[in-house]
Amino acid sequence: MRILLDTANLDDIRYFNTYYPIEGVTTNPTILSKEGGDPIVQLKAIRQIIGEDKELHVQVTETEFEKIIEEARLLVDCLGINTFVKIPVTDVGLRVTKYLSDRNIGVTVTAVLTAAQAMLASNAGASYVAPYISRSENLCADGVGTVSDIAKIFNVSGTDTQILAASFKTAKEVLDVAVEGCHSATIGSGIMKMLLSHTTTDTSILGFERDWKEAFGDTTLLKLLKNK
Ligand code: E4P
Repeated sequence: MRILLDTANLDDIRYFNTYYPIEGVTTNPTILSKEGGDPIVQLKAIRQIIGEDKELHVQVTETEFEKIIEEARLLVDCLGINTFVKIPVTDVGLRVTKYLSDRNIGVTVTAVLTAAQAMLASNAGASYVAPYISRSENLCADGVGTVSDIAKIFNVSGTDTQILAASFKTAKEVLDVAVEGCHSATIGSGIMKMLLSHTTTDTSILGFERDWKEAFGDTTLLKLLKNK
């Protein structure tokens, strides 16, 4: 499953873009509000860090059809071709999705809570649908099950729309949607670290270090190789 970073923090993006195989960055108005400053300057800085080939998903802030279209076009002009315009799944959102998709502007339909919404977004031509996992599970709904349903619906229809799961609170949720056939997930830096770390990995490494030291002292394989 492809992984994107769900943040506008430049330090995090710089770090993970260098050392982890991320496919791009997603933002929303809340995420941008946390960084402060000028959001356009921030988005341009993100684009500069990730380069022109990776995906940058940016949510619109306008709410009327014509204005969303104008905002979307200017966003892509400003941030490059691999920019996906995030549109909330509403009536006007679906109309905008159809309009922009017909004109080859990539749309990520966001704030998706049900498979029905995802199906309508796909039919409108969305490149991605972004189902919210933890916001769903917080309301005792089955966020992971929703991804599973969307995957089944998309498989049957043969749509090109991809699932970009979002809103995660645990690493297990990320793994669960991967198992259900999710194409991509966008996660924060905390979850990224949780996906990697395991206490048994840490204790195993400590054990290897202890055993090596007991047998060979301060020497290392590198030192031995250099002395050959
Ligand atoms: C994607 O970019 C979504 O907007 C984001 O993952 C929502 O996450 P939250 O529910 O943690 O705010």
